[in-house]
Amino acid sequence: MNVVNTTHSTAKDLRFTSEVERNTAHLYDKVKHVIPEVEWPVFAPIIDRINKLKVQKNAVILGHNYMTPEIFHCVSDITGDSLALARSATKTEADIIVMAGVHFMAETAKILNPSKKVLIPNSGAGCSLAESITAEDVRKLKAQYPGVPVVTYVNTSAEVKAESDICCTSGNAVEIIEGLKVPRVIMLPDEYLALNTAKKVKTEIITWKGRCVVHEMFTPSDIRGMRENNPGVVVLAHPECSPEVVAEADYTGSTAGMIDYVAKHRPVKVVLVTECSMSDNVAAEYPDLDFVRPCNLCPFMKRIELSNILNALEKEEIEVHIDPAIAVRARVSVERMLTGWSPGT
Ligand code: 13P
Ligand code: SF4
Repeated sequence: MNVVNTTHSTAKDLRFTSEVERNTAHLYDKVKHVIPEVEWPVFAPIIDRINKLKVQKNAVILGHNYMTPEIFHCVSDITGDSLALARSATKTEADIIVMAGVHFMAETAKILNPSKKVLIPNSGAGCSLAESITAEDVRKLKAQYPGVPVVTYVNTSAEVKAESDICCTSGNAVEIIEGLKVPRVIMLPDEYLALNTAKKVKTEIITWKGRCVVHEMFTPSDIRGMRENNPGVVVLAHPECSPEVVAEADYTGSTAGMIDYVAKHRPVKVVLVTECSMSDNVAAEYPDLDFVRPCNLCPFMKRIELSNILNALEKEEIEVHIDPAIAVRARVSVERMLTGWSPGT
């Protein structure tokens, strides 16, 4: 392996040489159905350099399902939904974790790995749900509903997690709420996820008015239009969509749940009612399936690019820091989600 300068890439380092072409040929093979050949010479040198730096610095890249294909398929070591990324963060032996996802995901990785360096390539990679609620809001709700457990979606800040009893994701919300064995919970902050979960459990759910800017855009008439224009299409929707949209879908699940559905059922024609890059990433793996592509971009996820991942690795920035007093309390809520918990235990 060539030793590369680890602090700063120059234009000379990022040329599409025959060596770069050779090193990355197996990666282009994975994305050739979704990335035009003419674009590869721009991506390949950055991908090659990121992959070399990861080895030199013992770093790992966790890539969310909404990353663009060149990030998802070509530099991420572990990919998945927010639950899978949180789980993998507990297992990694790497010294540096780079989150190719949004800030709350990087915070969750830091909460679970206080002694490791966790980097987020762009500090503007936020989330409308995480911004919808503060720790003070949670304290007020707890005062309003004393003794009612607070179940908090991982799409929140560390401060909000610290005020919560247990976290959940869209992949385990039903299981977490049923596991509590209580008649009533406060579920924060996504109103639609809470309403969709309430349909599947006997527990009464007190909600908050948070919304995902991506999923709230889909309407039931969008789904009906997709069916009219694409006879036989199978509709998979994320539970951050409104209950009316979910009612129009054939299946509802987390991003990983949707991928598993495609892998298991191989629908001839399918639409993923979620963030745009998901369809590209899944289509790269299943080129024989027809993906209908009306989708919405997450402006926060799209702030993560190959160039700022490279910068993050070279300069070891932007490091995620959490006040240790907050982190220790937030960790309890995240670990309870991963290991199971009910108020009686
Ligand atoms: P998943 O946990 O399903 O990956 O969802 C995360 C997210 O941000 C969806 O908008
Ligand atoms: Fe947040 Fe929605 Fe973007 Fe997911 S898709 S990160 S919930 S704004």
